Amino acid sequence: MITNTELEITGNQFPSKIVSYEKHIDTFNFFTENGVTLKVTILRDSVIRFRYSTTGIFENDFSYAITKYANSGYDILEIEENDDQYEITTEKLICRIKKENARISMFDAKDKTLIIDDEIGFHWEESYEHGGNVVKMSKKSRKGESYYGLGDKPTHLNLKGKRFQNWVTDSYAYGKDTDPLYKAIPFFTGLHGGKSYGIFFDNTFRSYFDFAHERKDVMSFWAQGGEMNYYFMYGPEMDKVVANYTDLTGKPHQMPPLWSLGFHQCKWSYYPESNVKEVTSKFRELQIPCDAIYLDIDYMEGFRCFTWNKEYFPDPKRMVKELLDDGFKTVAIIDPGIKIDADYNIFREGLEKDYFCKRADGPYMKGKVWPGQCYFPDFTNPEVREWWSGLFKELIEDIGVKGVWNDMNEPAVMEVPNKTFPNDVRHDYDGNPCSHRKAHNIYGMQMARATYQGLKKFAFPKRPFVITRAAYSGTQRYTSSWTGDNVASWEHLWIANVQAQRMSMSGYSFAGSDIGGFAEQPEGELFARWIQLGIFHPFCRVHSSGDHGAQEPWAFGDEITDIVRKFIELRYQLLPYLYTAFWHYFNDGVPILKSMVMYDQEDIQTHYRTDEFVFGDKILVCPILEPNSKGRRMYIPKGDWFNMWNDEVVEGGKEMWVSSDIETMPIFIKSGSVIPKYPVQQYVGEKNIEEVTLDVYFKIGTEKSFLFDDAHDGYDYTKGKYSYRTFKLLGKEKQLIIQQHKSGRYDADYKTFKINFHGVPFEIDKIQIDNEEIDFKKMQVNGDNTLTIHKDFNELHIKGVM
Ligand code: GLC
Repeated sequence: MITNTELEITGNQFPSKIVSYEKHIDTFNFFTENGVTLKVTILRDSVIRFRYSTTGIFENDFSYAITKYANSGYDILEIEENDDQYEITTEKLICRIKKENARISMFDAKDKTLIIDDEIGFHWEESYEHGGNVVKMSKKSRKGESYYGLGDKPTHLNLKGKRFQNWVTDSYAYGKDTDPLYKAIPFFTGLHGGKSYGIFFDNTFRSYFDFAHERKDVMSFWAQGGEMNYYFMYGPEMDKVVANYTDLTGKPHQMPPLWSLGFHQCKWSYYPESNVKEVTSKFRELQIPCDAIYLDIDYMEGFRCFTWNKEYFPDPKRMVKELLDDGFKTVAIIDPGIKIDADYNIFREGLEKDYFCKRADGPYMKGKVWPGQCYFPDFTNPEVREWWSGLFKELIEDIGVKGVWNDMNEPAVMEVPNKTFPNDVRHDYDGNPCSHRKAHNIYGMQMARATYQGLKKFAFPKRPFVITRAAYSGTQRYTSSWTGDNVASWEHLWIANVQAQRMSMSGYSFAGSDIGGFAEQPEGELFARWIQLGIFHPFCRVHSSGDHGAQEPWAFGDEITDIVRKFIELRYQLLPYLYTAFWHYFNDGVPILKSMVMYDQEDIQTHYRTDEFVFGDKILVCPILEPNSKGRRMYIPKGDWFNMWNDEVVEGGKEMWVSSDIETMPIFIKSGSVIPKYPVQQYVGEKNIEEVTLDVYFKIGTEKSFLFDDAHDGYDYTKGKYSYRTFKLLGKEKQLIIQQHKSGRYDADYKTFKINFHGVPFEIDKIQIDNEEIDFKKMQVNGDNTLTIHKDFNELHIKGVM
């Protein structure tokens, strides 16, 4: 018997000569002699999509990552053809396609410089076992080129010289360089010659990126199946590249409720009710601000989702209300595994409705998780998502839980070597049936999406709050995220810092780490240093596995408690500043954390920095990452910066030593900034804000600052009920002018700003408000460099003694 196990062709195959093309509106199809079609679609002047088919037939064009709200449209679109090549031109880009081999080169349309060039470009290998192809792309990597992005990789910010895999994985106690982790975000930003571009490889199969690791002049990416389908984005500024990517894969659908930007306390697990109350009361007693308390798996009855252990929590509705009355929003965990138990209604319902995932030959996908053997809803089926979202009615609408925490949604399976479903499990994939090879990376995303839909419905008219562990590109539309099961070590503090920055530059700003470390126990010093960093992460939560002792702010002695309190208070003071940064992210896709390279890509000193970052657009932070430190060396980017602790001004563009004992950390404010601050509150909404402080940092020159405000929850802001203020500062030798521009229809309760001047170099002679001179001796000059002024002033003009 002859068994043919051989493919007709083995090894790499390549497109041959392009013989013709056709154009449909914004799309060009190029046809090669050997049957390859290259489809080039112009989405915007700076965003171009490339798809390749090796048979001339494209798969159904369906993506979980791309949002229907993405901007589209271009100003210029032209094509020219000559003997050797096609040239597509937009306002920002020129895309050259070689006729001989379909290789692509991208150029800046303005100055015609090369941005990136295919090496061998698209190629593929047939996949005998699964059908279809392994799809591959290679591009040239040039000297001095750098790479950033890719989600949660716990490695140096600059990815050059490394290879990575995208396959969401439960990674308990991962370490530096562990790959892959919990997220698959196949998007990176490249930087060469001061110009930045991005590539989003929208392929959900297990995929790989090689940044000049295998060969020093080549960067490549490939996937084990699916289509070669990628988006090229141009800046040339890196924050614009990321904003373009975020626009394409979606900005958060809602502003977060302001409380979710407060401090969160979590542990595996707080139970019974008396323990939860002990913790929350202690926060209030010690006056440490906190907005959210978490219930980990032990609140459930035998880890069955949507149930309560009535022995530990006899009356959850009452408890949740009492917590809320004290300012605590309750967040409860919900995992994907549904316990196999004929007496459990959710299990029965899932079974009756045929909502659980099945193996290729028919049996259910059975796997062990916390509750024991489970079946798993197929969240890639829209009907299942609808069902799942409905299950939150009781928890949210009736009991009053304010947020849901989705965990184990890689999906994690215990005691099996690959830690997840086998490849043959079937998924609906929104009507594009497929195996787990294709659905794995988006499974957790679709679970979080269904959860989000439930919260959106049942929390209404309040905003939903969800947090997820697993994510694919686009998950940022629905939910915040944390970086999974880290460890209480100094190395992990470094990891938490790079992960939060990397998530931000991967379009996913609303992220943070388990502060203090999940596994093992931190010493007080490490905990304090981690809090100091964590208050500058958009998502700020202490979490720990609980089997090693306490990890609350008071668990490490009074000295540490005081430091922790001071920093959490700073977080609460900075809430209006953070909320404004979130508004810029929500509206324009601007990352909340800006790594040094994103802050100033033209300064090559920034290309390999990892530790410093800019929080929002004005506050430079650098965590202390070693024990017993009295300070550290750090890079200060160009410009003048005020040391927040003593108002000393330093000139950037250099590395320098910054003293910082355990009470402080290096924090600098950009000169010219106007930083809005709230009074310290124990939780969002505790106080009626009667006055907002504006910390004004003098500068010779101009600088713009912003303040967004609204009702802090609900949807009125979507109907224009928000207020957006721009402060334009102009400083001269003997003058300081602040002009305010207001838009939006929201009028906050507070009537005044307390302006707090820093570094004004002259003695004040006159003050004019809206062109009217006021006797500043009569007005409320607070005797300490501060001045109280009506919030709707148009221009504040301060003149010095001549
Ligand atoms: C996973 C989560 C962790 C959680 C634990 C128990 O390890 O990552 O945050 O506490 O499960 O639910």
